[in-house]
Amino acid sequence: MAANDATTETASGATGLHVAFIMDGNGRWATKRGWPRLVGHRKGAERVREIVRACPGLGIGWITVYAFSTENWKRSTEEVIGLMSIFARYIRREADELSASGVQLRFIGDRSRLDPKLQELMTAIELRTAGNTRLVFNVAINYGGRDELARAAKVLAADVLAGRIAVDEIDQAALEARLDTAGQPDPDLVIRTSGETRTSNFLPWQAAYAEYEFTPTLWPDFSAEHLAEILGRFGLRERRFGAVLTG
Ligand code: IPE
Ligand code: IPE
Ligand code: MG
Repeated sequence: MAANDATTETASGATGLHVAFIMDGNGRWATKRGWPRLVGHRKGAERVREIVRACPGLGIGWITVYAFSTENWKRSTEEVIGLMSIFARYIRREADELSASGVQLRFIGDRSRLDPKLQELMTAIELRTAGNTRLVFNVAINYGGRDELARAAKVLAADVLAGRIAVDEIDQAALEARLDTAGQPDPDLVIRTSGETRTSNFLPWQAAYAEYEFTPTLWPDFSAEHLAEILGRFGLRERRFGAVLTG
């Protein structure tokens, strides 16, 4: 029997697999067609909508998407501003449907560097959907795993200085509780589109025991059918978590 039948149940009430996506290839998808890169990003946002809708029917209770990394500020101002406006438009347009369909939207990453208006939109939709339990949907914006760990270390140090925790009490759980993903289950599966086989600073702590799938499909071409096919293969994998399985 495959070890992937167990579902995760957490404080949020959501149940099911946690699948994380490194949504890559938007730029190449557009460039191949002679279009500006932002057209690819817009198409990519439409794909996110389709994938999110498909998740509950595929046994997924948690989804995390990598939308903007701490390294993506290196791109042109035009592309960065364009991406930020796509995020704002996505939240505005999808808010009603997400809220009504039981999706809990959350953001991970350092939001302090984002435009205050975008931050307001993010906080408002988080509050509005906080009670939803059908699907938890994390969007990683200005997220970098190393940055997240450094920020968590800073919080931990401040908590030691304030006497909230002793140095001897610092363990994995203490660090985990200070990550952006505190309280959430680790991803079971990380899918990267576009053929690149690297993790680009995505969830280094949380995905330590995740399964990985790399597909050549560019994100704007990635469909719910592709996801269903990958999940079928994932179900056959044996996850050992360091142990020797018997029986
Ligand atoms: C992923 O697509 C989306 C973001 C990183 C924001 P890319 O923009 O990286 O597309 P490629 O890799 O250049 O094709
Ligand atoms: C990773 O894609 C970040 C996101 C998908 C948001 P990149 O396109 O930025 O990663 P690299 O530069 O190819 O490693
Ligand atoms: Mg890329």
